[in-house]
Amino acid sequence: MVRVMSGIQPTGNLHLGNYLGALVNWVRLQDQFEAFFCIVDLHALTQRPKPEALQHAVRELTIGVLASGVDPERATLFVQSHVPEHSELAWILTCLTPLGDLNRMTQFKDKSAQQPDNINAGLFTYPILQTADIALYRAEAVPVGEDQEQHLELARETLRRFNFVYGDTFPEPNTVKSEAPRVLGLDGEFKMSKSRGNEIGLFETEEETWQKLRGAKTDPARLRRSDPGTPEVCNVFRYHGFFTGAEERDRIAAGCRSAQLGCVDCKRALLANMERVKGPIRERAAALRDRPAQVDEILHEGAGKARAAAAATMALVRERVGLVRPR
Ligand code: TRP
Repeated sequence: MVRVMSGIQPTGNLHLGNYLGALVNWVRLQDQFEAFFCIVDLHALTQRPKPEALQHAVRELTIGVLASGVDPERATLFVQSHVPEHSELAWILTCLTPLGDLNRMTQFKDKSAQQPDNINAGLFTYPILQTADIALYRAEAVPVGEDQEQHLELARETLRRFNFVYGDTFPEPNTVKSEAPRVLGLDGEFKMSKSRGNEIGLFETEEETWQKLRGAKTDPARLRRSDPGTPEVCNVFRYHGFFTGAEERDRIAAGCRSAQLGCVDCKRALLANMERVKGPIRERAAALRDRPAQVDEILHEGAGKARAAAAATMALVRERVGLVRPR
């Protein structure tokens, strides 16, 4: 079975953008591939989180991933730092990466602008660690959003270089496009993110979500209830695309165009359909929070499976590179 590998950063609280953009995809892929899903806590260190906050974020993300339907029986779910081979391979690949290649990364520039007083070297070499994540499992398929395309391109170049210098070792990782690659926030303008404060949290209650949806941007040209709207330009209608069946969506679109249906009614309908997805996830998450030992056990087993695969790759890599250990 072809291997798929993906990582998600433990930062902030999970929101619908993470769910629709990454987790839904993971759940689908776990049946089609041999899946390695990684909570990338080492990557998160580039933002220098408080230790307790990082620990908490890893926990909550694990719970969110499991509650969303990733099944540890089918997929290997683990935490990056529990498999020290990630750091080891990252160093070896660092020594194969020209500075100029890293200099081209737009994410480095974006992140440097976001945290101008903490432009650390880890932020710069971030994509190398990501390449190591993928290469360790010799993964051929990598589901990521559009914003990661450049990192994937760099990963392919780096692994090609490794194969050229040290002999054929790694397969080429291809991008698996997610079905909902870009989920905009409540402002209808920017990608949904915690740092922008435009997110709908995955674990929010129905009431909390309603408070946010009420203020969500709709068709900017529809000023009054009696104005006909244009669903195609409305971000709330776009959300319906993720949660609402085709028939109901057609009815809502027609109601919007004819001004029979107001934005509040449209949002109410969305809330109900979102809740059908979010409600069960929230309940499963609450159940997992009550059983911390079970979550620990899942991560422990995941790390064990990941380490077995990673150790096999590293034995080969060390031999290829000339890092020989006495027996
Ligand atoms: N950089 C990715 C992101 O921010 C997360 C990530 C880390 C990743 N390692 C990975 C994604 C390996 C895919 C494969 O979304």
